[in-house]
Amino acid sequence: MQDTNKEPIVRGAGRFTGTWADRLGGVFDCGVDFRNQSVLDVGCNIGIISYEVSKRNPRLIHGVDIDQDSVDIASRIFRGEDIPYQFTQLDLRNEQKVADAIKGEYDIVLYLAVEQHLIRQSPDAARYVSKLLLEKCNKTMIYRSPPNLSGPFKELANDCGFEKTYEQKRESINSALRFDRKEQA
Ligand SMILES: C[S@@+](CC[C@H](N)C(=O)[O-])C[C@H]1O[C@@H](n2cnc3c(N)ncnc32)[C@H](O)[C@@H]1O
Repeated sequence: MQDTNKEPIVRGAGRFTGTWADRLGGVFDCGVDFRNQSVLDVGCNIGIISYEVSKRNPRLIHGVDIDQDSVDIASRIFRGEDIPYQFTQLDLRNEQKVADAIKGEYDIVLYLAVEQHLIRQSPDAARYVSKLLLEKCNKTMIYRSPPNLSGPFKELANDCGFEKTYEQKRESINSALRFDRKEQA
């Protein structure tokens, strides 16, 4: 039986809210087709979401996280995968290292439950990272944050040429939002 007084902890990230079903629901209920897509998972933690994405036949997966132990675990999980993957230790507050690590473009960017941590650590870095990720995203971004942050992010996404095409509705977890790059006129 679940002991509701003891919530599991995600390393480096504080309390874990919702369930994996909620978290994965946000990613897979929004209708994104991962087949043959390049995927960047920002704040990938131990790679559980990336691993589930890997079952949908993406072209490659790149995960980044500040926590070295987490990226090591993700790399070990992926040893049994036959798609190209890379998990990189990266502190998103370090602008130069972010620019070095996230060089190319990606079809799909996952930015899930990370922005709130980054804003607390460095609001300037959070702004820089959000803009950079939108610039690096060719097609679709799936984003999750507390409601007070999703408003400003929607505006930024709109300014960067994206439109919101999905919003997850679950009370146990902050909504995941899907943004798609608008067709060029
Ligand atoms: C709440 S967890 C979210 C994990 C996963 N994206 C998910 O949705 O289940 C936040 C993640 O952000 C990472 N993180 C926090 N601050 C970071 C930073 N400055 N640079 C890179 N990753 C960071 C944490 O290590 C943690 O894995």
